Amino acid sequence: MKQNEIINNIYQRHSVRQFTDENVNDELIKNILDAANQAPSAHNKQSWKFIVIKEKKKHDLAQLVADSSSNFIKPSSSILRMAARSIESAPVVIAVVNTGSLIEHGNDLFKVEKDLSNDFFRTMEIQSSAAATENLLLAATSLGLGSVWLGIMFLVKNKVLSFLGEEKGEFMAVIPVGYPKKISEGPLKKSLNYVVKELK
Ligand SMILES: Cc1cc2nc3c(=O)[nH]c(=O)nc-3n(C[C@H](O)[C@H](O)[C@H](O)COP(=O)(O)O)c2cc1C
Repeated sequence: MKQNEIINNIYQRHSVRQFTDENVNDELIKNILDAANQAPSAHNKQSWKFIVIKEKKKHDLAQLVADSSSNFIKPSSSILRMAARSIESAPVVIAVVNTGSLIEHGNDLFKVEKDLSNDFFRTMEIQSSAAATENLLLAATSLGLGSVWLGIMFLVKNKVLSFLGEEKGEFMAVIPVGYPKKISEGPLKKSLNYVVKELK
């Protein structure tokens, strides 16, 4: 099988949930944000926003998530508490929010029927931001950093968006970033036999 730097980096990326105390310098953060920002996006709308959270604000976010966890039953409550611990442990957290700009202007561009358009453009925004988020995770890995995509925070998305000052946006991801406390192998992936179907 062919190997190269990018393919190796894809294999090296594993979710990292606990971090060392070492800080991540601003140049590296800019590096991974720049890489995220190069992602493909529907109609090149680049309908994402990255919010960098550090220090007291990061601690406050962890507290918000930990406090909100008691509103949920297990296992969601435990996963939320685990997310709060990851946020606290990381030196920096990056949130990804969809701006809604494609939803707002998409109809002028595509002339899709009204009842289809909201679903269509919202899905396109989510897919675009997912590509940016994966870029971000891979760029972090390539610089020796660990990260994890905290989707569970969707459960408290209104509180999180308000905390971020992004009430008009759509929650996409919260990603703690830092130097991994330990290097894990990550879970096994399904064999291609299960996930690939060939049509001829
Ligand atoms: C959309 C999405 C949401 C996720 N949400 C969480 C989460 O809330 N908490 C968490 O610890 N990991 C979360 N993960 C990480 C997955 O658990 C992880 O990617 C999966 O177990 C495979 O492991 P790997 O990332 O090491 O390959 C999420 C991943 C994705 C793509």
